[in-house]
Amino acid sequence: MGDLIKVIETTEQMQQAADRIRQDGKRIAFVPTMGFLHAGHLSLMRIGRQAADVLVASIFVNPAQFGPNEDFETYPRDYDRDLDLCRSQKVDIVFAPDRENLYGRAYQTYVRLDRLPDHLCGLSRPVFFTGVATVVAKLFHIVKPHVAVFGQKDFQQLLVIRQMVRDLNFDTEIIAGPTVREADGLAMSSRNNYLTEDQRPAALSLYDALNVARKMVAGGITDASRIRARAEAAITKYPEAEIDYLSLCDPETLNDIDHITGPVLMALAVKVAGTRLIDNMVLQPGHE
Ligand code: PAJ
Repeated sequence: MGDLIKVIETTEQMQQAADRIRQDGKRIAFVPTMGFLHAGHLSLMRIGRQAADVLVASIFVNPAQFGPNEDFETYPRDYDRDLDLCRSQKVDIVFAPDRENLYGRAYQTYVRLDRLPDHLCGLSRPVFFTGVATVVAKLFHIVKPHVAVFGQKDFQQLLVIRQMVRDLNFDTEIIAGPTVREADGLAMSSRNNYLTEDQRPAALSLYDALNVARKMVAGGITDASRIRARAEAAITKYPEAEIDYLSLCDPETLNDIDHITGPVLMALAVKVAGTRLIDNMVLQPGHE
Protein backbone atom coordinates (compact mmCIF):
# COMPACT_ATOMS: atom_id res chain seq x y z
CA MET A 1 0.00 0.00 0.00
CA GLY A 2 1.20 3.47 -0.82
CA ASP A 3 2.67 4.88 2.34
CA LEU A 4 4.06 7.33 -0.19
CA ILE A 5 0.91 9.45 -0.11
CA LYS A 6 1.79 13.11 -0.29
CA VAL A 7 -0.25 15.73 1.51
CA ILE A 8 -0.16 19.23 0.04
CA GLU A 9 -1.73 22.11 1.93
CA THR A 10 -1.09 25.15 -0.21
CA THR A 11 -2.26 26.13 -3.69
CA GLU A 12 1.26 27.19 -4.69
CA GLN A 13 2.77 23.80 -3.87
CA MET A 14 -0.10 21.97 -5.55
CA GLN A 15 0.32 23.99 -8.75
CA GLN A 16 4.06 23.26 -8.77
CA ALA A 17 3.44 19.56 -8.24
CA ALA A 18 0.85 19.53 -11.06
CA ASP A 19 3.31 21.30 -13.39
CA ARG A 20 6.01 18.72 -12.64
CA ILE A 21 3.64 15.80 -13.25
CA ARG A 22 2.58 17.32 -16.57
CA GLN A 23 6.20 18.03 -17.57
CA ASP A 24 6.93 14.33 -17.00
CA GLY A 25 4.23 13.57 -19.57
CA LYS A 26 1.89 12.05 -17.02
CA ARG A 27 -1.88 12.42 -16.79
CA ILE A 28 -3.64 13.68 -13.67
CA ALA A 29 -6.99 12.36 -12.41
CA PHE A 30 -8.81 14.38 -9.76
CA VAL A 31 -11.55 13.58 -7.24
CA PRO A 32 -12.73 16.65 -5.30
CA THR A 33 -14.40 15.93 -1.95
CA MET A 34 -15.44 17.58 1.29
CA GLY A 35 -13.98 14.68 3.27
CA PHE A 36 -15.62 12.35 5.77
CA LEU A 37 -15.05 9.79 3.06
CA HIS A 38 -17.27 6.77 2.41
CA ALA A 39 -17.50 4.02 -0.18
CA GLY A 40 -19.08 6.42 -2.70
CA HIS A 41 -16.01 8.66 -2.65
CA LEU A 42 -13.73 5.64 -2.82
CA SER A 43 -15.51 4.32 -5.91
CA LEU A 44 -14.74 7.62 -7.67
CA MET A 45 -11.10 7.26 -6.65
CA ARG A 46 -10.98 3.81 -8.24
CA ILE A 47 -12.41 5.26 -11.47
CA GLY A 48 -9.81 8.05 -11.35
CA ARG A 49 -7.01 5.58 -10.64
CA GLN A 50 -7.86 3.74 -13.90
CA ALA A 51 -8.16 6.93 -15.93
CA ALA A 52 -4.71 8.50 -15.42
CA ASP A 53 -1.19 8.07 -14.03
CA VAL A 54 -1.39 10.26 -10.95
CA LEU A 55 -4.46 10.41 -8.71
CA VAL A 56 -5.16 13.58 -6.73
CA ALA A 57 -8.00 13.86 -4.19
CA SER A 58 -8.93 17.08 -2.44
CA ILE A 59 -10.47 17.47 0.98
CA PHE A 60 -11.99 20.88 1.61
CA VAL A 61 -15.28 21.76 3.28
CA ASN A 62 -16.16 24.67 1.03
CA PRO A 63 -17.78 27.52 2.98
CA ALA A 64 -19.01 29.20 -0.24
CA GLN A 65 -21.53 26.42 -0.95
CA PHE A 66 -23.23 26.51 2.46
CA GLY A 67 -26.08 28.91 3.15
CA PRO A 68 -26.14 30.94 6.38
CA ASN A 69 -28.50 28.46 8.12
CA GLU A 70 -26.84 25.32 6.82
CA ASP A 71 -24.43 22.86 8.42
CA PHE A 72 -20.98 24.27 7.54
CA GLU A 73 -19.85 24.34 11.18
CA THR A 74 -21.19 20.90 12.05
CA TYR A 75 -20.39 19.16 8.74
CA PRO A 76 -18.62 15.92 9.80
CA ARG A 77 -14.83 15.95 9.62
CA ASP A 78 -12.27 13.18 10.27
CA TYR A 79 -9.03 14.07 8.54
CA ASP A 80 -6.90 11.18 9.83
CA ARG A 81 -9.42 8.58 8.83
CA ASP A 82 -9.78 10.26 5.42
CA LEU A 83 -6.03 10.06 4.87
CA ASP A 84 -6.04 6.34 5.68
CA LEU A 85 -8.89 5.78 3.24
CA CYS A 86 -7.03 7.75 0.54
CA ARG A 87 -3.98 5.56 1.19
CA SER A 88 -6.14 2.46 0.79
CA GLN A 89 -7.14 3.68 -2.70
CA LYS A 90 -3.54 4.49 -3.65
CA VAL A 91 -4.23 8.19 -3.95
CA ASP A 92 -0.90 9.84 -4.81
CA ILE A 93 -1.61 13.36 -3.57
CA VAL A 94 -4.17 14.65 -1.09
CA PHE A 95 -4.73 18.37 -1.54
CA ALA A 96 -6.12 19.77 1.71
CA PRO A 97 -5.86 23.56 1.76
CA ASP A 98 -7.25 25.70 4.52
CA ARG A 99 -9.87 28.40 3.95
CA GLU A 100 -7.34 31.21 4.23
CA ASN A 101 -5.08 29.68 1.59
CA LEU A 102 -7.88 28.95 -0.88
CA TYR A 103 -10.00 32.09 -0.55
CA GLY A 104 -7.53 34.63 0.78
CA ARG A 105 -8.62 37.81 2.50
CA ALA A 106 -10.53 39.84 -0.06
CA TYR A 107 -12.13 37.15 -2.20
CA GLN A 108 -14.67 38.45 -4.74
CA THR A 109 -14.83 36.31 -7.91
CA TYR A 110 -17.65 33.78 -8.42
CA VAL A 111 -18.80 31.42 -11.18
CA ARG A 112 -22.59 31.64 -11.50
CA LEU A 113 -24.64 29.61 -13.99
CA ASP A 114 -27.76 31.06 -15.61
CA ARG A 115 -30.35 28.28 -15.83
CA LEU A 116 -29.37 24.92 -14.33
CA PRO A 117 -29.50 26.25 -10.75
CA ASP A 118 -33.12 27.37 -11.26
CA HIS A 119 -34.24 23.80 -10.51
CA LEU A 120 -34.16 21.15 -7.77
CA CYS A 121 -31.51 21.87 -5.12
CA GLY A 122 -30.84 25.35 -6.48
CA LEU A 123 -34.30 26.53 -5.40
CA SER A 124 -33.90 25.74 -1.72
CA ARG A 125 -30.11 26.34 -1.65
CA PRO A 126 -29.66 29.66 -3.53
CA VAL A 127 -25.89 30.01 -3.08
CA PHE A 128 -25.06 26.33 -3.43
CA PHE A 129 -24.23 25.94 -7.13
CA THR A 130 -22.35 29.22 -7.31
CA GLY A 131 -20.26 27.97 -4.40
CA VAL A 132 -19.70 24.59 -6.02
CA ALA A 133 -18.86 25.96 -9.49
CA THR A 134 -16.53 28.53 -7.98
CA VAL A 135 -14.57 26.10 -5.83
CA VAL A 136 -14.36 23.48 -8.59
CA ALA A 137 -13.10 26.12 -11.07
CA LYS A 138 -10.47 27.13 -8.52
CA LEU A 139 -9.50 23.53 -7.81
CA PHE A 140 -9.19 22.80 -11.54
CA HIS A 141 -6.79 25.74 -11.90
CA ILE A 142 -4.74 24.44 -8.98
CA VAL A 143 -4.73 20.67 -9.61
CA LYS A 144 -4.70 21.00 -13.43
CA PRO A 145 -6.41 17.64 -13.99
CA HIS A 146 -6.77 15.88 -17.34
CA VAL A 147 -9.83 14.08 -15.96
CA ALA A 148 -12.04 14.66 -12.94
CA VAL A 149 -14.59 12.28 -11.48
CA PHE A 150 -17.97 13.31 -10.00
CA GLY A 151 -20.78 11.17 -8.58
CA GLN A 152 -24.23 10.78 -10.13
CA LYS A 153 -25.58 10.89 -6.58
CA ASP A 154 -25.32 14.68 -6.99
CA PHE A 155 -26.85 14.66 -10.47
CA GLN A 156 -27.50 18.39 -10.72
CA GLN A 157 -23.98 19.15 -9.51
CA LEU A 158 -22.62 16.89 -12.25
CA LEU A 159 -24.66 18.78 -14.88
CA VAL A 160 -23.47 22.12 -13.47
CA ILE A 161 -19.83 21.04 -13.65
CA ARG A 162 -20.17 19.68 -17.20
CA GLN A 163 -21.83 22.94 -18.26
CA MET A 164 -19.15 25.07 -16.62
CA VAL A 165 -16.40 23.02 -18.27
CA ARG A 166 -18.04 23.55 -21.69
CA ASP A 167 -18.83 27.22 -21.14
CA LEU A 168 -15.43 28.19 -19.76
CA ASN A 169 -13.34 25.85 -21.96
CA PHE A 170 -11.72 23.91 -19.16
CA ASP A 171 -9.39 21.33 -20.69
CA THR A 172 -10.62 18.61 -18.32
CA GLU A 173 -12.68 15.54 -19.13
CA ILE A 174 -15.54 14.90 -16.68
CA ILE A 175 -16.32 11.29 -15.82
CA ALA A 176 -19.50 10.32 -13.92
CA GLY A 177 -19.45 7.60 -11.26
CA PRO A 178 -22.61 5.62 -10.37
CA THR A 179 -24.30 6.11 -7.01
CA VAL A 180 -22.99 3.77 -4.32
CA ARG A 181 -25.63 2.61 -1.83
CA GLU A 182 -25.68 0.94 1.56
CA ALA A 183 -26.83 -2.71 1.59
CA ASP A 184 -30.40 -1.53 2.31
CA GLY A 185 -30.40 0.92 -0.60
CA LEU A 186 -29.73 4.22 1.19
CA ALA A 187 -27.44 6.34 -1.01
CA MET A 188 -24.14 6.85 0.78
CA SER A 189 -23.59 10.38 2.04
CA SER A 190 -21.41 12.01 4.67
CA ARG A 191 -24.65 13.44 6.08
CA ASN A 192 -26.01 9.91 6.79
CA ASN A 193 -23.83 10.25 9.87
CA TYR A 194 -26.50 12.57 11.31
CA LEU A 195 -29.19 9.84 11.16
CA THR A 196 -30.19 7.72 14.13
CA GLU A 197 -31.24 4.07 13.76
CA ASP A 198 -34.92 4.88 14.24
CA GLN A 199 -34.76 7.52 11.47
CA ARG A 200 -33.46 4.91 9.03
CA PRO A 201 -36.82 3.72 7.62
CA ALA A 202 -37.79 7.32 6.83
CA ALA A 203 -34.37 7.86 5.22
CA LEU A 204 -34.91 4.76 3.10
CA SER A 205 -38.19 6.16 1.81
CA LEU A 206 -36.25 8.11 -0.86
CA TYR A 207 -35.07 4.83 -2.34
CA ASP A 208 -38.55 3.30 -1.92
CA ALA A 209 -40.06 6.24 -3.82
CA LEU A 210 -37.51 5.90 -6.62
CA ASN A 211 -38.27 2.20 -6.97
CA VAL A 212 -42.02 2.79 -7.01
CA ALA A 213 -41.52 5.31 -9.82
CA ARG A 214 -39.05 3.10 -11.67
CA LYS A 215 -41.54 0.23 -11.77
CA MET A 216 -44.38 2.48 -12.91
CA VAL A 217 -42.32 3.98 -15.74
CA ALA A 218 -41.04 0.52 -16.73
CA GLY A 219 -44.64 -0.70 -16.73
CA GLY A 220 -45.64 1.90 -19.31
CA ILE A 221 -47.24 4.61 -17.16
CA THR A 222 -46.56 7.94 -18.83
CA ASP A 223 -48.48 10.41 -16.65
CA ALA A 224 -45.85 12.02 -14.41
CA SER A 225 -48.43 13.37 -11.94
CA ARG A 226 -49.67 9.83 -11.18
CA ILE A 227 -46.13 8.66 -10.59
CA ARG A 228 -45.31 11.66 -8.44
CA ALA A 229 -48.39 11.07 -6.26
CA ARG A 230 -47.45 7.43 -5.59
CA ALA A 231 -43.81 8.33 -4.93
CA GLU A 232 -44.80 11.12 -2.54
CA ALA A 233 -47.04 8.73 -0.63
CA ALA A 234 -44.09 6.36 -0.08
CA ILE A 235 -42.34 9.23 1.72
CA THR A 236 -45.10 11.07 3.53
CA LYS A 237 -46.18 7.90 5.34
CA TYR A 238 -43.24 8.70 7.63
CA PRO A 239 -44.20 11.72 9.76
CA GLU A 240 -40.56 12.74 10.28
CA ALA A 241 -39.96 12.96 6.49
CA GLU A 242 -40.58 16.33 4.87
CA ILE A 243 -40.32 16.60 1.09
CA ASP A 244 -38.30 19.55 -0.19
CA TYR A 245 -38.82 18.59 -3.84
CA LEU A 246 -39.70 15.52 -5.86
CA SER A 247 -39.28 16.07 -9.56
CA LEU A 248 -39.63 14.13 -12.78
CA CYS A 249 -37.61 16.09 -15.28
CA ASP A 250 -35.47 16.12 -18.39
CA PRO A 251 -32.04 14.63 -17.51
CA GLU A 252 -30.26 17.39 -19.49
CA THR A 253 -32.20 20.60 -18.91
CA LEU A 254 -33.96 19.61 -15.65
CA ASN A 255 -37.20 21.06 -17.05
CA ASP A 256 -40.30 19.31 -15.67
CA ILE A 257 -41.74 16.47 -17.72
CA ASP A 258 -45.51 15.85 -17.63
CA HIS A 259 -45.77 13.10 -20.22
CA ILE A 260 -43.01 10.49 -20.21
CA THR A 261 -41.82 9.33 -23.62
CA GLY A 262 -38.10 8.75 -23.00
CA PRO A 263 -35.53 8.70 -20.18
CA VAL A 264 -36.67 10.84 -17.25
CA LEU A 265 -34.71 11.93 -14.20
CA MET A 266 -36.49 11.47 -10.91
CA ALA A 267 -34.72 13.59 -8.32
CA LEU A 268 -35.77 14.26 -4.77
CA ALA A 269 -34.68 15.98 -1.59
CA VAL A 270 -36.24 15.05 1.73
CA LYS A 271 -35.55 16.29 5.22
CA VAL A 272 -35.60 13.47 7.74
CA ALA A 273 -35.76 14.92 11.25
CA GLY A 274 -33.76 17.92 10.00
CA THR A 275 -31.17 15.98 7.93
CA ARG A 276 -31.47 16.87 4.26
CA LEU A 277 -31.04 13.83 2.01
CA ILE A 278 -31.01 13.71 -1.80
CA ASP A 279 -31.23 10.87 -4.27
CA ASN A 280 -32.07 10.32 -7.93
CA MET A 281 -32.43 7.77 -10.71
CA VAL A 282 -32.80 7.97 -14.45
CA LEU A 283 -35.96 6.01 -15.30
CA GLN A 284 -36.47 4.43 -18.70
CA PRO A 285 -39.82 3.46 -20.22
CA GLY A 286 -39.77 -0.27 -20.92
CA HIS A 287 -36.73 -0.94 -18.68
CA GLU A 288 -36.94 -2.40 -15.17
P1 PAJ B 1 -18.88 15.55 -1.38
O1 PAJ B 1 -20.29 15.59 -0.92
O2 PAJ B 1 -17.81 15.19 -0.42
O3 PAJ B 1 -18.83 14.55 -2.61
C1 PAJ B 1 -17.64 14.39 -3.34
C2 PAJ B 1 -17.95 13.56 -4.58
O4 PAJ B 1 -18.43 12.27 -4.17
C3 PAJ B 1 -19.04 14.18 -5.45
O5 PAJ B 1 -18.69 14.04 -6.82
C4 PAJ B 1 -20.26 13.36 -5.09
O6 PAJ B 1 -21.22 13.30 -6.14
C5 PAJ B 1 -19.63 12.00 -4.86
N1 PAJ B 1 -20.50 11.14 -4.06
C6 PAJ B 1 -21.09 11.43 -2.87
N2 PAJ B 1 -21.86 10.40 -2.46
C7 PAJ B 1 -21.75 9.43 -3.41
C8 PAJ B 1 -22.31 8.11 -3.57
N3 PAJ B 1 -23.14 7.59 -2.67
N4 PAJ B 1 -21.97 7.40 -4.68
C9 PAJ B 1 -21.12 7.93 -5.61
N5 PAJ B 1 -20.56 9.16 -5.50
C10 PAJ B 1 -20.88 9.90 -4.43
O7 PAJ B 1 -19.91 17.04 -3.74
C11 PAJ B 1 -19.11 17.61 -3.01
O8 PAJ B 1 -18.45 16.98 -1.97
C12 PAJ B 1 -18.74 19.09 -3.16
O9 PAJ B 1 -19.85 19.77 -3.67
C13 PAJ B 1 -17.51 19.31 -4.08
C14 PAJ B 1 -17.75 18.82 -5.50
C15 PAJ B 1 -16.28 18.62 -3.49
C16 PAJ B 1 -17.20 20.83 -4.15
O10 PAJ B 1 -16.99 21.36 -2.90
